[in-house]
Amino acid sequence: MPVNIHIPTIWQAVFVVILVFVPIKVYGATVRGFLRGRFEGENVESQPLPPVNALDNEKNASNLAVPGRRQDNDQPRELRIYKDFYYKLQNLERFPETLPQSRDLLLSLLTEALADALKKPEQGILSVEHYTSENLTKFLQIENDKTTQEWEEYVARRKAGSPTEMFQDREEAKWWLRQMAPVKYVDGAWLGHINKITTPFALRRVTKDAWQVLSEELGDGDPHKNHVYVYRELMEEIGSGLPEADTLDFIHPQHQLNEKCIWKAAVAQLLISLFPHEFLPEILGFNMHFEGLTMETMKAARELEELGLNPYYFVLHISIDNADSGHTAIAMQTVIRYVEHVRQTQGESAAQQAWRRVQTGFVLSKELSSGPECPSQRHRPHNSFPRNIHEAEVIKIFEAKAPVAHKIHCGSRLTIGGRTLVDWLQPDAFAGKRWQMEFLDYLSNMQPWVRRGDSSKSKLIHELSWGGKMFGSFTQSEVDVVKRWIDTLEIPNPQLYWLFVGRSENMSDQVLQKQDIRVDYPVLSPTSMVDLSYELTPLTPSPLLYFHPASITPANPDMSKVLPLWFTNPCLLESFVCVPSKTTTIIASSVVRLLRAQSGFDAEGSGVAGMDEVRRIDSVGLVELGLEMTRRSGLRQPTSLKEVLESWPSEFACKMLQVSMRPMAHPGLLLGLAAAFVGLHDAMTSSKLLSTTSKAVLKQIVRRERDSLKICLDELQDDKIECAEFHRGHGIGRAEIENCLDQNLVMAEDFPSSKMLS
Ligand SMILES: *[C@@H]1O[C@H](CO)[C@@H](O)[C@H](O)[C@H]1NC(C)=O
Ligand SMILES: *[C@@H]1O[C@H](CO)[C@@H](O)[C@H](O)[C@H]1NC(C)=O
Ligand SMILES: *[C@@H]1O[C@H](CO)[C@@H](O)[C@H](O)[C@H]1NC(C)=O
Ligand SMILES: [Fe+2]
Ligand SMILES: [Fe+2]
Repeated sequence: MPVNIHIPTIWQAVFVVILVFVPIKVYGATVRGFLRGRFEGENVESQPLPPVNALDNEKNASNLAVPGRRQDNDQPRELRIYKDFYYKLQNLERFPETLPQSRDLLLSLLTEALADALKKPEQGILSVEHYTSENLTKFLQIENDKTTQEWEEYVARRKAGSPTEMFQDREEAKWWLRQMAPVKYVDGAWLGHINKITTPFALRRVTKDAWQVLSEELGDGDPHKNHVYVYRELMEEIGSGLPEADTLDFIHPQHQLNEKCIWKAAVAQLLISLFPHEFLPEILGFNMHFEGLTMETMKAARELEELGLNPYYFVLHISIDNADSGHTAIAMQTVIRYVEHVRQTQGESAAQQAWRRVQTGFVLSKELSSGPECPSQRHRPHNSFPRNIHEAEVIKIFEAKAPVAHKIHCGSRLTIGGRTLVDWLQPDAFAGKRWQMEFLDYLSNMQPWVRRGDSSKSKLIHELSWGGKMFGSFTQSEVDVVKRWIDTLEIPNPQLYWLFVGRSENMSDQVLQKQDIRVDYPVLSPTSMVDLSYELTPLTPSPLLYFHPASITPANPDMSKVLPLWFTNPCLLESFVCVPSKTTTIIASSVVRLLRAQSGFDAEGSGVAGMDEVRRIDSVGLVELGLEMTRRSGLRQPTSLKEVLESWPSEFACKMLQVSMRPMAHPGLLLGLAAAFVGLHDAMTSSKLLSTTSKAVLKQIVRRERDSLKICLDELQDDKIECAEFHRGHGIGRAEIENCLDQNLVMAEDFPSSKMLS
């Protein structure tokens, strides 16, 4: 039986449990509710989860087995936690309290991925120890060549008559496609929050290129080309019966989406995007891996076709992600530009540090990249398991026990990662390498049964030894093997991420408490609710009122009032496109086109721009035009929105930033405000402060903005409340603009005069 344990030792032990161990392997995370009690051992109390308790019940929460509740025990806790994050991160503005936990979870995922990658630093991207653009190019070239070669080998095998390698039959393929839905429904999410108006202006060249990839994931504003839409169509074709990805229903266990690796990958994508300023290099690295072409995509495309299923989603990704002109190329170019920027502004050692952060993002994507294993494929060797001789020996023992698993008495209530030992050892399931790896990962992190590095304190060994409940189920030499396995388990260093990238650690709570809306993103403190309480006489909304071209030339605009509004207003619709599952609507697609216009992307053609867009050097958007006006007014050039708002403070600008963080709550208001600002852009097309070329560019932007917003307004027609909000937003914006131009902007006669607005 267990030795006497002194009270302080217990507390120490509990602390270590909380801090370091895991099914989720939450290495570096600070102590938080969601990490507590996640050990399924019989004598560990399950504690309520703060993020879970905060699940909103406005939807039908009553039939959701809420994670953390007893009746939901058939879902492993880790899976429940990922599902919970999946839902909340797609509805973030309703769950602002998720932010610190999200940052912690992101850090722990980065740490976990790094720890694994560092076991073989001579392989993969970590092998490029010293960054140069040549080294990076060469590395990616070699990776690409490897994939090509693997593909040729596969094709040769298949030609020689060998069977499909991913799916045995249609049913299995459908199962796989359906299990992939959580991750495919967030396609593009890792870039969802990039290229914000709060991005320092000098970095916009970099973030714009990354945003171009996002834009293509979103079909460049054509909903039918939107990748999530394409996958949704596929799900309909196979009769998946899945609801929309951002609903509470989607994470319900009834849908049988139980592949942990998929949920984890999906959540990692949502998480890494969340802090686009702090984790920019990690995002760019993640993007560079993610956009690389994988065997999985190519095999799936081919085998789906063979099985008579629609391969379009995968075919699309083979062509769009190509290494020459596609996403792979853009992603690499973005990293090169970023590291060069750091080198030029902060020097060589900062550039190398940036490179390590890029590597970290890259390994996170790589770690999470493969989909679930189909049942028929489980017998295949796994190239990274077993990871060492100790694992191989332990697995051999459990394999031998599998047929008699029910005879191992280990406390019937004991579950490992949500399954009983008997379940784990089902002979056909236990034949799977992925399954075995998961089993060992859960077991090795299961306090107090296994204490990494110390078999003498591990309850599993006590139970297997003389006097223990499981004595006799293992021979002495088998117990020795298990001991050696436990003794060689490493205790991960929770500081690993910070040490590897050479940053000083910042606690999430502190980082998020010190946020400044002019600098940070996202800022969702509960108190930041916005008071834009202008009242307007209700009017039938009409495009004529909103989109009437301005017929005035602002003779003497007050630039100290114009500039803060000019630089801030592009924030208004930015957040409409940050969650891929919400981008397949007509409104979101129109907003994609509007944002493209505002940021200086070329007008959408019928094809995919890819590297063409990245190579364009004349890309001028609202920010660049704002800088030109500042320059020609003889004013100091701001380098960021923060500087703009320090030089020319504007309470209204800060309010716009605040509302812009809540597109779900205020769609009509934001669109209306955006429509009003088209009026400002339009007025400036005749400003003396812009060159002739720039005026022409601005005219094009205005035309594209109007086209997009008209479509949005059309879409709102049936929603009286949002229509009224559009109207209100337009009125508020217009009053503010007229105030700084000191003239009436829109001349339509039946429009309420500015007196009514104030
Ligand atoms: C909630 O779910 C229950 C049980 O499935 C159902 O009877 C009820 O109608 C649902 N309520 C709403 C508001 O959807
Ligand atoms: C990368 O480039 C540097 C300098 O050109 C070189 O010293 C280094 O060994 C190269 N290779 C790797 C893998 O870092
Ligand atoms: C993190 O901590 C460092 C050093 O304590 C500090 O200089 C930096 O501003 C902090 N960063 C954030 C985002 O709070
Ligand atoms: Fe995609
Ligand atoms: Fe892509």
